[in-house]
Amino acid sequence: MNKRILNKETIKEIEKKVKVCGWVQAIRSHGKILFIDLRDASGIVQLVFGPKFEKDKLLQSIRPEWVIEVQGKVAKRPKGMLNPKHITGSIEIQVLELKILSKAKTLPFSIETNGYEITEEKRLKYRYLDLRRPRLKKNLEIRQKTIQFMRDYLIKQEFIEIETPILTKSTPEGSRDFIVPSRNQPGKFYALPQSPQQYKQLLMVAGIEKYFQIARAIRDEDLRGNRQAEHTQLDIEMAFISQKEILELIEKLYTDLVRKLFPEKRITKIPFIRMTYKKAMEKYKTDKPDLRRNKKDPNELAFAFITDFPMFKWHEKDKKWGAEHHPFVMPQTKDIKIIKKEPENILAFQDDFVLNGQEIGGGSIRNTNLELLTAVFEILGHKKEAIKRNFKNYFEAFSYGVPPHGGIAPGIDRFLAVALDESNIREVIAFPKTGDNRDLMMDIPSEVSEQQLKELHIKIVKPKKRND
Ligand code: AMO
Repeated sequence: MNKRILNKETIKEIEKKVKVCGWVQAIRSHGKILFIDLRDASGIVQLVFGPKFEKDKLLQSIRPEWVIEVQGKVAKRPKGMLNPKHITGSIEIQVLELKILSKAKTLPFSIETNGYEITEEKRLKYRYLDLRRPRLKKNLEIRQKTIQFMRDYLIKQEFIEIETPILTKSTPEGSRDFIVPSRNQPGKFYALPQSPQQYKQLLMVAGIEKYFQIARAIRDEDLRGNRQAEHTQLDIEMAFISQKEILELIEKLYTDLVRKLFPEKRITKIPFIRMTYKKAMEKYKTDKPDLRRNKKDPNELAFAFITDFPMFKWHEKDKKWGAEHHPFVMPQTKDIKIIKKEPENILAFQDDFVLNGQEIGGGSIRNTNLELLTAVFEILGHKKEAIKRNFKNYFEAFSYGVPPHGGIAPGIDRFLAVALDESNIREVIAFPKTGDNRDLMMDIPSEVSEQQLKELHIKIVKPKKRND
């Protein structure tokens, strides 16, 4: 028996017998002959069922999206029947044998449109069908190529890709943690990483001078259009590096990436626009200005770096200072007295990477001066003892020879959404969550068994009903 080949490979097998498999995309009847467009991961091929197959019987017994296996002879199509839309448009397969591998119910929606007209609830509930849509398949392919490009680019420059834990400790990145109870240590919890921030800095102490990771960052945020509970970052950290050098690395990487994978796009300005936070706020009233020359042009990419952010941000609701970015950023002054006296005036070596009005990355030079770091935490409202306790690993590591270091983490989902002209990052993620953080396909979050709760020493206190 022949080995199965991909649809796209059939054009090399003219006059030969082949075996192909896939999904029935469309069925067309012409006189005594029946045509089926067969779809597989590589594309579409036309199958021809001649009079030997009883057409009416076949029409009744085969439906779109059924999974079939076919053996047949590859033949050139008659002149005038060529279809330049498909790579196999010059041939067809004259079917000799048909085997049905799996039947399919009628799909809940069409997969031949771009899908924007279907409700989010429906698309996400049947995401595995939604992903059959060519637009989404293309988005996933380009996502993979983008990540591969980043990986190759950095590895060529002697960066080392290192995985960091998913079961970790809470890091103050400014959002809420998802927490995971420990079975072996009742009452204790892990946190899922809001980012690998502390680990990547500890890798600098370890002497890995150039680190990167395609990292999943997990935050319990209130979701908006360009936010997901899980997103992917190109996480980078380097020792003995200046902010200028970090930005230049990112600038070159994204310029080369756009040229290679998005050649139809035009970058507004190279070198990328650089602007202080102060100037952005004064001139554009936002720290992520859209600097495109022509906002109606979908092929324009206006990259910019916003620098010199304030170190602290006043939270009026809680009447306390927070970190504008995160507490590990190096303030632009080392004078602790000034920092404590006028936190509102302290700038930081922090930068945001902006594209067409969206924040697509953030980075900084890190604070490796322990006295200064303690002062920062104190302004953020932590007691000295609590700082020592909560960041013990970090403080201790920094006492064993820490190189000056810095890094950045561009968000991959947001970049891809802009580059692929998608208005929502869900369109570039295989299995995203809904706006209220549910996965409708897997039906999560969901309850767990009494037994699991018991093992974890957890009792659920049922939320009170509103009218109780
Ligand atoms: P930051 O918190 O700025 O920095 O995150 C970096 C980038 O990740 C993207 N991003 C998101 N994308 C989708 N959904 C979300 N919920 C989401 N949250 C963030 C943004 C953002 O600019 N550890 C630092 C980086 C560093 O200093 O090196 C950090 O995580 O594009």
